[in-house]
Amino acid sequence: MIAAKTEKSGASTRRRFISWLLGTSLSALVLAVFYPVARYITPPATAEPATATVTPPLRPDELLPNSGQIFKFGSQPGILIRTPAGELRAFTAICTHLGCTVQYRPDLGHIWCACHNGHFDLNGINIAGPPPRPLEPYVVNVRGDQIVVSKEA
Ligand code: FES
Repeated sequence: MIAAKTEKSGASTRRRFISWLLGTSLSALVLAVFYPVARYITPPATAEPATATVTPPLRPDELLPNSGQIFKFGSQPGILIRTPAGELRAFTAICTHLGCTVQYRPDLGHIWCACHNGHFDLNGINIAGPPPRPLEPYVVNVRGDQIVVSKEA
């Protein structure tokens, strides 16, 4: 009678231990899966400072007419172009369709996105393909032998 009671008590203890082990393992698994997801989704407390002005590492005379150059505008790509008429212009290089980096096509004489064949004219206006909006224009100034690119005020 006493042996049966001890055996029953031992089985109950094992059962509780296994239940506790499964419960804590499941909790740890849920935490391990959802914590990184929550951290990824939550924006950082301090946003990246918005860049307002940059000086691309390029002299004005290095950019020939009917050519373009990608440069870094903060953490984003920008595109600086010299039109066939010799005017300097700059835009964000992020395509307004799905965010690919655009490039200048001298053979077409305008800005082109290779991802889905999007076309922008020399004013950054979307003229063909899937891009829904124009490229954001930047202000370009030449100071001595430096090109200064700024966001429009
Ligand atoms: S991302 Fe540029 S055309 Fe689709």
